[in-house]
Formats: sequence, C-alpha cells, structure tokens
Amino acid sequence: MTESEFGTLACLEDTHHLACLFARHLEPGQFLALCGDLGAGKTTLTRFLTQQLGCRTLATSPTFSLFQHYEGGRLPVLHADLYRLGSGAEVFELGWEEMLGDYEGGVVVVEWADKFEETWPPDFLRIDAAYSDDQESRVLEFSAQGVRSRRLLEDLKTSWGSK
Ligand SMILES: Nc1ncnc2c1ncn2[C@@H]1O[C@H](COP(=O)(O)OP(=O)(O)OP(=O)(O)O)[C@@H](O)[C@H]1O
Ligand SMILES: [Mg+2]
Repeated sequence: MTESEFGTLACLEDTHHLACLFARHLEPGQFLALCGDLGAGKTTLTRFLTQQLGCRTLATSPTFSLFQHYEGGRLPVLHADLYRLGSGAEVFELGWEEMLGDYEGGVVVVEWADKFEETWPPDFLRIDAAYSDDQESRVLEFSAQGVRSRRLLEDLKTSWGSK
C-alpha cells in the first residue's frame, strides 16, 4: 500500500482544482473510497468531479437514494453514500457486486466508505479528509492499493505539485 499526505485544500477553489486533476487522470474501473467526518468535503469533491468529467447532472448529497448514477461525461460515475447503512452485508444485499461489475468502465465514488472496508475491491484509492486545526481548510491523506490506484496517486501528486 502506498500512503501519502497529499496536501491541504484551503478553499473550494483548491477542491475544484483537485477534481480537475482527477477528471484528467481517472481511468475506467477506478474505485475512490472517500472517508472523513461530517462536512469534511466528500460530496463537494464528488460534485466537482462530475462537473469536470462533463456529466449531464452534478452529484448532490443523496437524501433518499443511497446510490446515484451520473452519465454523459468522459466516464460514468456511480456515487454511493453508505452513511445510513448498518452493515457491509446490507450493502451486498442491495446488489453491490453487480453495481461494481456494471461500473468496470466507469468510476465508483463512495462516501463513508471506511464504514465497510469489506465492500472495497482490491484496487482502490482511499482519500481521508479532515478539518484543519483552524477548521477552515481540509487536510487530505491518500492511500493507494493496486496498480491502477498507485498510478493515479502518482499522477495526482505530480500534477498537484506543479500547480
Ligand atoms: N476545501 C474546502 N474548503 C472550505 N470549505 C469546504 C471545502 N470543501 C468543502 N467545504 C464546505 O464544507 C461543507 C460540507 O461539505 P460536504 O457536504 O462536501 O461534506 P461531506 O463530507 O460530504 O459531508 P457529509 O459527511 O455530511 O456527507 C460545505 O459547505 C462545503 O462548501
Ligand atoms: Mg456528503
């Protein structure tokens, strides 16, 4: 596993910039595990990502449905929010494996993914977002497992470093 302190998102513009880099470097089949407290910025990053990929509608915080599909962009996006689910078994009962299979040509973005790590595929990029000490910014740490995710992390670090 490659772990890395990625950097700080000081404002929404930084989150937007990171989403642009994701949109440029993401490859089909990527699994993004978004972790971090309430309000850490998971939905915001997902929303900017759907925008930058060119999806027809933009991700919002799911209120009723646990899973949303965003199409029409460079890659389709499955956006899941596991906050309200009680167990990994529940996720599987909802047809999780089939959904992941359907998104082999797209991107899967999961909020509160760390609640049920047993639902992750072997190749994943984990993004931990936390509030900074002054509560204004968000501090990100990434961990990558698998060839695709490690390559993505390297690409993101290189392009983020040269911003
Ligand atoms: N980099 C950032 N800098 C400053 N504010 C941010 C940043 N990212 C997100 N925010 C703000 O934080 C608030 C919460 O963001 P968001 O809804 O994306 O969090 P979340 O992690 O999805 O929360 P939840 O756990 O409830 O799903 C929003 O008002 C958003 O504008
Ligand atoms: Mg959210």
